[in-house]
Amino acid sequence: MAFEVNRLGDRFAAEIVGIDLSRPLSDEEFAAVREAWFDAGVAVFRDQHLTPAEQVAFSRRFGKPIVHVMSQFLLPGHPEILLLSNKRHPDGTPVGFEDAGRYWHSDISYDERPAMGSHLYAVDIPPAGGDTVFADMRHALATLPDDLRRRVDGRWARHSYTRNWRRNETVEGGRPAVSAEQRDRLREVSHPMVRGNEDTGEEALFVNPGFTFAVEDMDEAEGEALLAALFEHSTREAFVYTHRWRPRDLLCWDNRTVMHRATSYDPAHTRHMHRTTIAGGRPVQAAYR
Ligand code: OGA
Ligand code: MN
Repeated sequence: MAFEVNRLGDRFAAEIVGIDLSRPLSDEEFAAVREAWFDAGVAVFRDQHLTPAEQVAFSRRFGKPIVHVMSQFLLPGHPEILLLSNKRHPDGTPVGFEDAGRYWHSDISYDERPAMGSHLYAVDIPPAGGDTVFADMRHALATLPDDLRRRVDGRWARHSYTRNWRRNETVEGGRPAVSAEQRDRLREVSHPMVRGNEDTGEEALFVNPGFTFAVEDMDEAEGEALLAALFEHSTREAFVYTHRWRPRDLLCWDNRTVMHRATSYDPAHTRHMHRTTIAGGRPVQAAYR
């Protein structure tokens, strides 16, 4: 099957047109799609009609699906699907994550094995807002001023799901409570600050404001100042692509090379999405200069 790849952002993000993901791709098609996605960092497949099982089957081609720790938001019968939603059950409890990250982050970087990729399928989208914004961490690394680059090469940073929770809280959604059992499954971990991508051979900055809270072997204040400088640099307009959703978009991002955040929207409108998350390996340190 021939498909077209159109660039969406100035340097990264692509639209893949002419492919139907509801049926199994041949090995050859799959290899081409995989390469186009990893190369772009963010890829959107337009106008897909995907049942939960079809989405899970597509995601599974890339690796093992991750079942999210927030078990109350998994789609019944399909634990590989995490619901992002502002809908409510009849008793008023939320159907899904209302705010799955209005702060910059890379999915599950707080785990020893962070998510390699995430696939998000738009079921209902609000007429305005509720965009997803991406920053290309390959480009952020490549353009890092020398003094900052020297301080991240070969260094590791600490990540946690809950350490930055307060700061991540938004006025609109708030964050759901994490139960004691869920908290028990969470660990604090360290990852290299410059990460290699084992599939493309590229390297990228691998720190994010949502989950990275300290730098190894650096005093607290110095570490915080370094992280703040890296975040300021990485989220400049020039490194960013904003995805304005269309219904039935399947958006795929590579958490090794981009970070992302959601924008707010008028809660009078429904936003309902299905997310599958693909397991990755332990981040590998890039061969730095
Ligand atoms: C996610 C996430 C952003 C959004 O699903 O990992 O961060 O736009 N979502 O909802
Ligand atoms: Mn996310």
